[in-house]
Amino acid sequence: MIKQQLEAMLQQAQDALTGADSEAALQEVRVRFLGRKGELTAIMKEMGQLSSEDRPLIGALANRIKEELERTIDVRGEALRRAEISRRLVSERIDVTLPGRRSFAGSKHPITLVAEEIGEIFTSLGFAVEEGPEVEKDFYNFEALNIPKDHPARDMQDTFYISDEVVLRTHTSPVQVRTMLQQPPPVRVIAPGTVYRRDSDITHSPMFHQIEGFWVDRGITFGDLKGVLTAFVTQFFGNGVGVRFRPSFFPFTEPSAEVDIQCVICGGKGCRVCKNSGWLEILGSGMIDPEVFRSVNYDPELYTGFAFGMGLERIAMLKYGVSDLRLFFDNDVRFLRQFGV
Ligand code: FA5
Ligand code: MG
Repeated sequence: MIKQQLEAMLQQAQDALTGADSEAALQEVRVRFLGRKGELTAIMKEMGQLSSEDRPLIGALANRIKEELERTIDVRGEALRRAEISRRLVSERIDVTLPGRRSFAGSKHPITLVAEEIGEIFTSLGFAVEEGPEVEKDFYNFEALNIPKDHPARDMQDTFYISDEVVLRTHTSPVQVRTMLQQPPPVRVIAPGTVYRRDSDITHSPMFHQIEGFWVDRGITFGDLKGVLTAFVTQFFGNGVGVRFRPSFFPFTEPSAEVDIQCVICGGKGCRVCKNSGWLEILGSGMIDPEVFRSVNYDPELYTGFAFGMGLERIAMLKYGVSDLRLFFDNDVRFLRQFGV
């Protein structure tokens, strides 16, 4: 009787094991048949009714059944684990021969590239670097540069006023004044920075960048100005590019000159960028006016000097052949990526 019960139970357990398709299902079978309250234990409780000859035989049978079930559960468990590993190997397969997806590494803005290159050229010529504030006093931006209030020259630069006495600097020339007020001559300095004017078209933007340069010492002449600026232009643009010095006017320099570079957009034939002149103005310059020396307490009888202020966007346009200056500030990555190194 117990023997049949045991054999029937073994059959049921084996059927249940065949259907068990997960570790959890296997555990359920183990508990159901072999657990402390499981079916095998329940059957074994009836052992007391057996005769003393049958008892060891049935006991041995029960043990064999128990061992067999445990072995089957182990084997089945191992098979399930292997199947799971194979499944994951297939589903998580990585094709190491596929090309990677590149992420774009940022690059320097073309204006930064140009500023750095210009900075290197002038520092190699012995210029030190100074900086000044973008929100500037009227005194440094205009008055100390020989541009009193109501002077018509203020119309040359359309100014953003913060108040009567404070402006967004319209050029980097106030750094000349600040530097000379702090250091006795000789001084040989460049001052890069952001400047602001009420201006906007394909060669003008309301925010742009200049690099100021000035060299004050005994015996500095207009020949030094021409020599330094020509050396700069040939070093920066190469030997082939056309350069011209054109007489001009600034209240803080006398004599004054503007420097033009042949328009690379049209090769000098004339286009929208150069307004059909074949030339693009990159900088203003001149011999520092004695009035400026007086406002910074330099003795104009002893010292002379030249100064210049160049527009970085114009130089970048010519260097890279960009036909609209406003592209530099649109932040279109398709444009900016072209300058990556
Ligand atoms: C000046 O700003 C003088 N401070 C330069 C100077 C310095 C003369 C020292 C003498 C001695 P100007 O306004 O011409 O000058 O501007 C200088 C350069 O800045 C121009 O040649 C041009 O390249 C650039 N520039 C002027 N306005 C703009 C603008 N709105 N957008 C982009 N570039 C400009
Ligand atoms: Mg000008």
